[in-house]
Amino acid sequence: MSQAHSPLKSTAIFSALLSIALAPHAQAKADFMHSTVKQATTIDTLPVIQDWKHAANGVWSASIGDMSQELRYTDLAAEPPRIERLNTLGDPEFPFEADAIRYSVNPDGRIMVRIPCGPDEKLYGYGLQLDKVNQTSRVLELNVDHWGKGGGRTHAPVPFYVSSKGYGVFFNTARFLKVFNQISNRKDATQRPPEVDRNPPKDEIASQPGKWQASPMGDSVEAAISGSGLELMVFAGDSMLEVVQRYNLYSGGGALPPLWGLGFWHRVHAHHNAEQVEAEVAEYTENKFPLDVIGLEPGWMTKSYPCTFEWQTKRFPDPQAFTQGLLDQGIRLNLWENPYISQNAKLYEDMFPLSGSHTVWLGIVPDYTLPEARNLLAAQHKADHFDIGISGYKMDEVDGYDRWLWPDHATFPSGNSAEALRQTYGMLLQKMLYQDLFKANNQRTYSLVRASNGAASGYPFVIYSDSYDHEQYITGLSTASLCGILWTPEIRSAGSSREWLNRMQTVCFSPMANLNAWASGVKPWDFPEVTDAVRDVIELRMRLLPYFYSAFASYNRDGIPPVRAMILEGDFKDTAATVIEGELDSETNPYATGEIIEKNDQFMFGPSIMVAPFYGKHATERSVQLPAGNWYNFYTGELAGNNTSISVTAAELKDRTPLFVKEGAVIPMFTEAPLNSKDAKGQDLDRAPLRQRQPAACELYEDDATTFDYQRGASRIRTLSVDADGALEVKIEGNGPSLFGEILNVEQMTK
Ligand code: GAL
Repeated sequence: MSQAHSPLKSTAIFSALLSIALAPHAQAKADFMHSTVKQATTIDTLPVIQDWKHAANGVWSASIGDMSQELRYTDLAAEPPRIERLNTLGDPEFPFEADAIRYSVNPDGRIMVRIPCGPDEKLYGYGLQLDKVNQTSRVLELNVDHWGKGGGRTHAPVPFYVSSKGYGVFFNTARFLKVFNQISNRKDATQRPPEVDRNPPKDEIASQPGKWQASPMGDSVEAAISGSGLELMVFAGDSMLEVVQRYNLYSGGGALPPLWGLGFWHRVHAHHNAEQVEAEVAEYTENKFPLDVIGLEPGWMTKSYPCTFEWQTKRFPDPQAFTQGLLDQGIRLNLWENPYISQNAKLYEDMFPLSGSHTVWLGIVPDYTLPEARNLLAAQHKADHFDIGISGYKMDEVDGYDRWLWPDHATFPSGNSAEALRQTYGMLLQKMLYQDLFKANNQRTYSLVRASNGAASGYPFVIYSDSYDHEQYITGLSTASLCGILWTPEIRSAGSSREWLNRMQTVCFSPMANLNAWASGVKPWDFPEVTDAVRDVIELRMRLLPYFYSAFASYNRDGIPPVRAMILEGDFKDTAATVIEGELDSETNPYATGEIIEKNDQFMFGPSIMVAPFYGKHATERSVQLPAGNWYNFYTGELAGNNTSISVTAAELKDRTPLFVKEGAVIPMFTEAPLNSKDAKGQDLDRAPLRQRQPAACELYEDDATTFDYQRGASRIRTLSVDADGALEVKIEGNGPSLFGEILNVEQMTK
């Protein structure tokens, strides 16, 4: 076997041989070739990012290049950073060595940042990725897009990751970002895994330093953009949850929806008229199904794709009376729209000079970074919608695919790049609707949007998709929670009654219980075999409104996501992933690539309830991992286990979703399910019966449930404490209005 040379040595020998062998003019050419080396290629020659600004306790930022030419996500946040609250979270050290984070500005204009990380670190986040929670050893293209291609492109490709070591990194610049997560090993990296011969002769197999790896573990995250500047932010924390909390608080805190937003939503068929909608609402009452929001799909407008934002009077002859009629029954109205403007719209002419070079579905694309464009849209929406009682929107089609949106070379009147506008279009519309329309008029909204991005946690907008894979929709509940995004695994239709029930159960434990019948026209009771079970889970969501609303208040105040990935629960992370070795197959797996199998199908709903939904191949039976600590069966109150895996079946649960409650929790619930959030006001509460022997507590948040007065202090918290014998004590803090009724001291459970 020939002697192995390091690449450096081979190059030196090659040059020496060259200089001996070459004639004088050839020698000159070789010297010229040497002089073409323009850029250093080792780590220590990369400039260090040094000027870290301490933005708040545990939060730092630094920038490279010229940020005056770039859009920052934090500039588009709903609310200013919550510095005071951040500073109550302790004052951790900067989580890297002073010279650890380096960068380069490449001759092709690309700006690259290199952030070291250890081989044992697990990285999570990067937005609403629907295939995986763990992003270790992956290359991701973080571009706003409809979910479908994967590889990072998604509805909310938030450029923020959290490490299992307890820090987070946020690329705060609205550009397409390509991230190499523990992938590329630099030639002089000190933590490189050893080189392994993939095809050793038999007698050398045993002496190999390990198993050959298709993707040798890299020692860093390297990410690059094409742009004139890049801002980087670092968040520290004692736990991954604290890192996420800091990120959310820096983004202005989490959104607080009005109480009605947490009730049941039904989006009617796209071609429904006023009478058909009214008939459907009446059916809800007849069938005794809870309902809070009706969503109108594109047919409510004179023209859609592109849009006018004006009422189609052939279907809705008197929009004001129609909206008011629903409001009188406690039903809110939400309007679908996409932001591309038709030549038939009254806004068209004024918007034309304020729009970009290209069209989407032949509609002009306003540049909403321009205040004039924002003001025009806000004024029209106020007059035609808000003033007659419209409560929110579904802002569709702001994500992709490439063939639908403007091209990357499109130009916009503000001078912002097509790329920056694509990364932020969904956010710009959320900003306009939240700040200029709803907040300016002291009314909260809860709305939908199909794309969002960094620093968006303060927006009361929920993301949805067309992709419709139930398992992926469950994964989305976890990934969204790592980056300030709200996600609904909305239900549209189903191939069987079991699938209908399972999807309904998942959506009822998500940020928005949304039935989107825009094409199917389906209603909750359309699968008679499971109608009772479907009603049961919607009623359970309604009974849990006080608990879930309080979880949102904690999102708003403390940055704790109301629906959360299990990895944010301290003890879950170590056991959550299993590595499966890859098997060589020349056609299907030529690099014998392995896989990390994660337990992504469980999540936290509010502070204390863990949900393990039935889905897909686990339609009626599944395993549930109970992390360390006692967990109780929600329905029976019995201890279910501690640090163990159990199996549950739909039969034993009488077709209800597996729910487990953490030790020390009090779950405040309405004694009866209200049919609408209006009936919820003032209704009495009791609590889920748990046979725990420990003292337990929870916070019940109250305010007027619809306005922004809570931001001016009009809220209160009732702390419910239960001692080891089950006796209840209630303390009230704050002078805000009461929202819920009395807390009935239910009889103590026999232990
Ligand atoms: C889709 C959207 C659906 C529905 C439809 C109406 O793109 O995701 O939920 O609104 O448009 O045309």
